[in-house]
Amino acid sequence: MLLHIPDVLTQEQVAYCRQKLEAAEWVDGRVTAGHQSARVKDNQQLPEDHPVAQELGELIVAALERSPLFMTAALPAKVFPPLFNRYQGGQSFGNHVDNAIRQARGTPFRLRTDLSATLFLAAQDEYDGGELVVEDTYGVHSVKLPAGNLILYPATSLHHVRPVTRGARIASFFWIQSMVRDDGERTLLFDLDMAIQRIGGEAPDHPSVIGLTSVYHNLLRRWAEV
Ligand code: NI
Repeated sequence: MLLHIPDVLTQEQVAYCRQKLEAAEWVDGRVTAGHQSARVKDNQQLPEDHPVAQELGELIVAALERSPLFMTAALPAKVFPPLFNRYQGGQSFGNHVDNAIRQARGTPFRLRTDLSATLFLAAQDEYDGGELVVEDTYGVHSVKLPAGNLILYPATSLHHVRPVTRGARIASFFWIQSMVRDDGERTLLFDLDMAIQRIGGEAPDHPSVIGLTSVYHNLLRRWAEV
């Protein structure tokens, strides 16, 4: 499932992140690339252990925890500390698949990448190109969202970032290990949860609300690893 989550950050938070990122020192993005993706990756990144990356990463994770849509869609067990990248002057990232396991540098923290996330930090009119293009079984999806918005997609997908031909594309990216590792099962739970929320809003006393809620929890109990 490919899901757009609007307004993860407020415009004030985006402005704060941008100001901090503007003043930071960026390095070649190939430092975190795997063997295969290093050949197609051309961008800049903040070093993983950079204090600005750590501060803004915590701000983003706190914002995700307050997003009901993110929580219900991702069912997160672990969130990788968010990283930051910048593309400009024709830079791009060719087709690749993200590494299955990620370890945070210098720590014992590691996760299985079930979901990939990109949080856009530049306004759409600040740059040309820079679309995130994700391939799944339903076809090819091109994504370019307003600043503060996030796209969540299965980490199993092939994806690339188109060349940025004007301005700079600035984003945060990270991975989520979900309590439900299978994308199909997670998508069913999400669809069921959204349907229960709709019926619960329109007819809260309908007896099926409790019946469907119990189906949701019993499926989650069957599929979740915690
Ligand atoms: Ni990637």
